[in-house]
Amino acid sequence: MAFTVTDLDERLSFGARVTDLDPATLDDPDVRAALRDLWIDRGVVVFRGVPGGTASQICLSEVFGECEVHPLRPKDAVSAPELSDIRYLPDDGDIFEVDGDPRGGWLPWHSDLIYVDTINHGGILRPVRLPEHGGGDTGFIDQIGAYDALPDDLKERIDDLDVVYWLQLDASTARFVHVPNLRMIRLRNSSARIMENVDTFPRVVHPLVFVQAETGRKVLNLSPWFAQGIAGMENEEGDELLHRLAEHAVDTSRAYVHHWHDDDMVLWDNWRMLHSASGVHPDDVRHLQRTTIKGDYALGRIELAEGEISHEMRLNV
Ligand SMILES: [Fe+2]
Repeated sequence: MAFTVTDLDERLSFGARVTDLDPATLDDPDVRAALRDLWIDRGVVVFRGVPGGTASQICLSEVFGECEVHPLRPKDAVSAPELSDIRYLPDDGDIFEVDGDPRGGWLPWHSDLIYVDTINHGGILRPVRLPEHGGGDTGFIDQIGAYDALPDDLKERIDDLDVVYWLQLDASTARFVHVPNLRMIRLRNSSARIMENVDTFPRVVHPLVFVQAETGRKVLNLSPWFAQGIAGMENEEGDELLHRLAEHAVDTSRAYVHHWHDDDMVLWDNWRMLHSASGVHPDDVRHLQRTTIKGDYALGRIELAEGEISHEMRLNV
């Protein structure tokens, strides 16, 4: 094969590391098929030592699907349209106090774009500038493994439920993010601007469990950040169930934490993996760029008020 695959962590049932990949081989249909199979099978793939910077990042992303422009991309962004800047600067970036510890660019466990009806299939992250004083790790937890680890009675209870999501960039107000003593100190400028118009984002609904099409494996599809409640059960009983599931989904004994090297690129399956960012010292700088790989599992929908008809239904009238 044109590249070498090793386990990321022998303890874990997901994740792979790819080395010796020459970007010139990405035109080969067999190489493309093998990389795609690996992504679907293992959920997270760390590519180490692939030359070519941004061009390779975009080329490699296109092996897994078309790249899309992120819906929250700032109008003044200067990077290639396929790229989103994940940047923390001392004078612009989120700062959260996490159990007494201030962290720049910290993010709780989540799925990207779960707050819209078509969540992207994945992305590739690549560092531009890593922090000087450590930190800045990215965590991943496999939700196929999380579903498998649920007790049978709970699996049966949740298989047909849906979860309501809404965009709320201040994670300290997220009801199902279980982080002790969490406090928002500052939101980055672009997030603060988005939150001024947050009412233009409708609530959306995604299934709590779905089946990975290629393998038949079930996924616990719950992003604790952005979750509002169980559809049709936004009450004490539903919230109690969702709190229990959120705690289970982020069990860090099942996590892989990536410590970044300059020549890494990390691909993940956003339909299957929760991810998080540990953050950096507030005086430090961290800059990564991410592609957004398009896809639609066709299970999400915009929540409609009773009696309201959807755009699609209207077209069929
Ligand atoms: Fe993310």
